[in-house]
Amino acid sequence: MPDLLPQAHAVAAKAHAPYSRYLVGCTLETTTGGIYHGCNVENASYGLTICAERNAIFQAVAAEGSGMKIKRLSVVCLGHEFPPCGACRQVIAEFSLAGGLTQVTYLQKGAPVTRSIAELLPEAFAL
Ligand code: THU
Repeated sequence: MPDLLPQAHAVAAKAHAPYSRYLVGCTLETTTGGIYHGCNVENASYGLTICAERNAIFQAVAAEGSGMKIKRLSVVCLGHEFPPCGACRQVIAEFSLAGGLTQVTYLQKGAPVTRSIAELLPEAFAL
């Protein structure tokens, strides 16, 4: 099973982030084995910014449809480290494996950390 972090690192270089200069990349694998990438895309009207994670997830939905499930997802920011923001956690939860078992990997002090989305977003909102 190839590590997704190098792919997320590569796509981070494509980010459009002239305002924050946070270049973020995300790579995910779906349960069908599909691999999708996203980077953050900022805008002069700041509120229109989309995060790397949601960009990758929306690519996966466009390719596989509404039933798409995320098996694992990695996110990298060049020169910074953070787990997915709250908004992206909620969107990951929407497409997670049963029980919130989707695995989310990010860097902390240079080392990969993996948590389930259930750990990152306990008691997620659902209809
Ligand atoms: N950003 C992401 O792409 N993912 C996150 O989980 C948090 C933040 C982006 C949004 C914005 O372009 C920049 O990082 C700084 O917030």
